[in-house]
Amino acid sequence: MNTQATPLPNTERLAADRDRWVASGTAGRPFFVERALGARIWDVDGREFLDFVGGIGTANHGHTNPEVVAAVREQLDHYLHQCFSFSSYEPYVDVCRLLAQCHPGDFDKKAILLNSGAEAVENAVKIARYYTKRQGIVCLDNAFHGRTLLTMTLTAKVRPYKLGMGPFAPEIYRSTGPYPFRGISSDDAIDGLHRLLKNQVDPTNVAAIIFEPVQGEGGFLPMPEDYPARVAEIAAEHGILVIADEVQSGMGRTGMPSAISHYGIEPDLMTWGKSMGGGLPISGVTGRAEIMDSVHKGGIGGTYGGNPLSCAAAKVAIGQVLDSDFQDSAKALGERMMARLQDLAAKNPSIGEVRGLGPMQAIEVVDSSGKPDAATTAKIVEEAFSRGLIIMGAGVDSNCIRVLVPLVATETDIEEGFRILNESFAAAS
Ligand SMILES: Cc1ncc(COP(=O)(O)O)c(C=O)c1O
Repeated sequence: MNTQATPLPNTERLAADRDRWVASGTAGRPFFVERALGARIWDVDGREFLDFVGGIGTANHGHTNPEVVAAVREQLDHYLHQCFSFSSYEPYVDVCRLLAQCHPGDFDKKAILLNSGAEAVENAVKIARYYTKRQGIVCLDNAFHGRTLLTMTLTAKVRPYKLGMGPFAPEIYRSTGPYPFRGISSDDAIDGLHRLLKNQVDPTNVAAIIFEPVQGEGGFLPMPEDYPARVAEIAAEHGILVIADEVQSGMGRTGMPSAISHYGIEPDLMTWGKSMGGGLPISGVTGRAEIMDSVHKGGIGGTYGGNPLSCAAAKVAIGQVLDSDFQDSAKALGERMMARLQDLAAKNPSIGEVRGLGPMQAIEVVDSSGKPDAATTAKIVEEAFSRGLIIMGAGVDSNCIRVLVPLVATETDIEEGFRILNESFAAAS
C-alpha cells in the first residue's frame, strides 16, 4: 500500500482551494479522493487507504458497488428526475416495498422516501404528531438524529452540533440514556423515563419516543438487551408511538436489515438512510400502514425525495441487505472484528471497553484513571491516517473509535487494517 507519496502537490492545491471556497464549518480533513472500490480509497496523489469509516456508514455495500453502479447507469438512459409529488414512477414504489420488508412485524406497512437521515427523522416526527394529535417527543441522552432545527434539538451533543444555533424546537424532552460502561443501567434509564413522564411532560401529551437501537455518534452504544422492550411496553400503556432511528444502525450494519430486529420489538415507525442508497442520497420512513396513511394528501413529501437515480441504487442496495448470504457474511465479519478488537484491548490498557452489535463496533479510550481520553483518541486517529488507515472518533466525549468498515471488506483488508490499528495504538501511547 502506497501511503507515503510525498510531496502531495494535488492535495496541497486542492486544500488551498478548499480553504478559499468551502465554508470552514464543514468538518473533514483535506484528503481528496480520486477513486474508491470496496474498502479501499485512492487519493489524488496516488496514496492508497483502507477505509474503516465508509462515508460514515454509507458504504456498507462497498465503495462503487458494481451492481449499484450498473443499476444507476441503466436508469440514466430513462429519466433523471420527475418529482414523485407530481408524477409516479416504478422504482420509487419498488423501494417502498423493499424498505417495508426491512421493518420487522407481521402487519401492513407503508413507506415514504426522502433525501437525508435528518429529513427522515423530521418526517417520522411529523407523522407521529399528526397521528396521535400530541406534540411531545421523547429522545435520549447521547442521541444523534441530524442537524436540521428539529433533529439538532433531538441530538444530544452540544459541541459542535448545537453550539450557538438555538433557539431549539419546542416539545422535545430528553430522557436518561442507558450506558452500562459508565454505570447507567437499563433500570436507571427506565427509572429516568418514568421520572420524565411525571416531572416534565404528561404521557398523554407525548406523541413518540425516538431512539437509535445502537447509538451511533453517541459512541456505538447498543441498547441493553431488555431496554427496547421495556420502552415499548411503557409506550403502549400510554398510546405513545415508538420510532427506531436506523439511519446508521440499519441496512446490514449489525448483520440484519434493522438493528431493532435483534431486540424482538416491532416499532411503529422507523427511519432509514445512509447505506440505503448504496452511496446515493436517499432516505425513508416506514411504519404501520394506518399511521403512515393518517396524514392528509400533500402533508408529506418533497421535490427530490426518492429521486429515480437514488431509487435505482437503493433497489439494489436494499435487495442485497435482504439477502441471507449478505447477512451471514456481515455477521461473520462482525465476529472476526470483535475477536481482533478484544485482542487489541488485551494489549492496550487505554481501551476501557470494546462493544458493538454484529459488525457495528467501537472501542472506548480512557486514561489511567478510567476517564474519557479524547486527546489519545485523536492521536490514534492521526497515527492510523499516516499509515493508510481511515478511522473516526465518536462519543459525547469524543473518546470512542468506531469501525464502519464496508461489509464487503476482504480478509486481507481486515488483517491489514488491524495491523495498522495495533501500530497506531503503540505509536500514540
Ligand atoms: C442515527 C442517525 N440519525 C440521523 C442522522 C442524520 O442523517 P443525515 O446526515 O443523512 O441527515 C444520522 C447521521 O449520522 C444518524 O446517525
